[in-house]
Amino acid sequence: MHHILVTGGAGFIGSHLIRLLVNKYPDYHIVNLDLLTYAGNLENLTDVEHKDNYTFVKGDIVDDKFLDELFAKYNFDGVIHLAAESHVDRSIEDPMSFIKTNIIGTVNLLNAARKAWGDYEGKRFYHVSTDEVYGTLGETGFFTEETSYDPRSPYSSSKASSDHLVRAYHHTYGMPIVVSNCSNNYGPYQFPEKLLPLFIHNIKNKKALPVYGDGKYTRDWLWVEDHAIAIDKIYHEGRNGETYNIGGNNEWKNIDLIHALCEIMDDLLDRDEGSSAELITYVKDRPGHDRRYAIDASKLMNELGWEPTIKSTEGLRKTAEWYLENSEWLENVTSGAYQKYYLKQYGSEV
Ligand code: NAD
Ligand code: DAU
Repeated sequence: MHHILVTGGAGFIGSHLIRLLVNKYPDYHIVNLDLLTYAGNLENLTDVEHKDNYTFVKGDIVDDKFLDELFAKYNFDGVIHLAAESHVDRSIEDPMSFIKTNIIGTVNLLNAARKAWGDYEGKRFYHVSTDEVYGTLGETGFFTEETSYDPRSPYSSSKASSDHLVRAYHHTYGMPIVVSNCSNNYGPYQFPEKLLPLFIHNIKNKKALPVYGDGKYTRDWLWVEDHAIAIDKIYHEGRNGETYNIGGNNEWKNIDLIHALCEIMDDLLDRDEGSSAELITYVKDRPGHDRRYAIDASKLMNELGWEPTIKSTEGLRKTAEWYLENSEWLENVTSGAYQKYYLKQYGSEV
């Protein structure tokens, strides 16, 4: 049996990956290690939680002793590491929790794997990272795997640091690794602090849509299930020691994406055309806001035959429909700790 440790499997991307792996590989044992922070939610996994090849473990990657015990208990063949503090705005407020989880947590995992794995035969450590490590682009050009790192927020700096450490364990200790750097994901189960679920929630409740700065910041959006498919491919077929960029070839200026969403929401909520867009409110910019991200994913496409399956307008509508149909999920995750954070940040309830 092949045992894989997935960290952060109760989060947004992790839950889609767990679902894919548990269903696609009945002969694998998938262990989901997650601390269940405000961003982790086992409700994301109700459809797979009773499967025989799935185990959930609550625990903290910052706790090195706990990790040693976990690696001693399960004979992991591979690690797919997603657990992280993931929200840029939170990293500006509280950098230290990003340093702890994203950097120290990653080193703890590398150390636990190194101690447990001996000669590394048949092993693989897969680190899931972000395009934000490359910094910011002007009007043209793309991030490739050769682009120099230039992280500019505490979040992206902590992810850049963890990427370097994973590669260092490959070069220094011979650990078999792969790294991927992906663009903005969207789709079901994303915590409503991120742009799309936050704005869907606000439109539904007729609340202001806070657009940072001039709204002309550009992101490359990828349907989250396409990211999970890419991770599965890279885990199984990616070359040892390599990095793969993952992107949707789907660039939008924020304000254009928001207008497209508003039109879809007017239609789905059966409201007057233009009524959602009236909620758009320009607010103070995010400090150090990266102007544009765009990914060149040709290495992944050419080497491993991956390509995005969902087109942007289709994905945007599917996303809006999912959050409207799953209002109970949205209510549950927006209560409690997140409420207090949001209230402090924005002076209103979510
Ligand atoms: P998320 O915030 O939705 O989920 C993170 C998960 O990690 C949560 O379930 C949380 O409980 C868990 N976690 C946090 N701290 C932990 C700790 N100390 N120990 C154990 N578990 C802990 O994040 P996401 O958006 O799903 O992102 C997952 C990964 O993918 C991250 O590493 C992120 O940097 C990367 N990534 C995200 C995107 C994106 O658009 N969301 C794009 C590229 C890369
Ligand atoms: O590029 C990959 C990254 O994408 C991931 O590594 C991060 O984990 C993920 O959070 C995401 O980072 P962003 O900062 O790009 O995502 P966010 O949804 O926070 O913001 C998207 C854009 O929308 C960004 O330009 C900021 C803007 N924005 C965001 C929010 C929450 C607003 O204008 N208003 C908002 O209220």
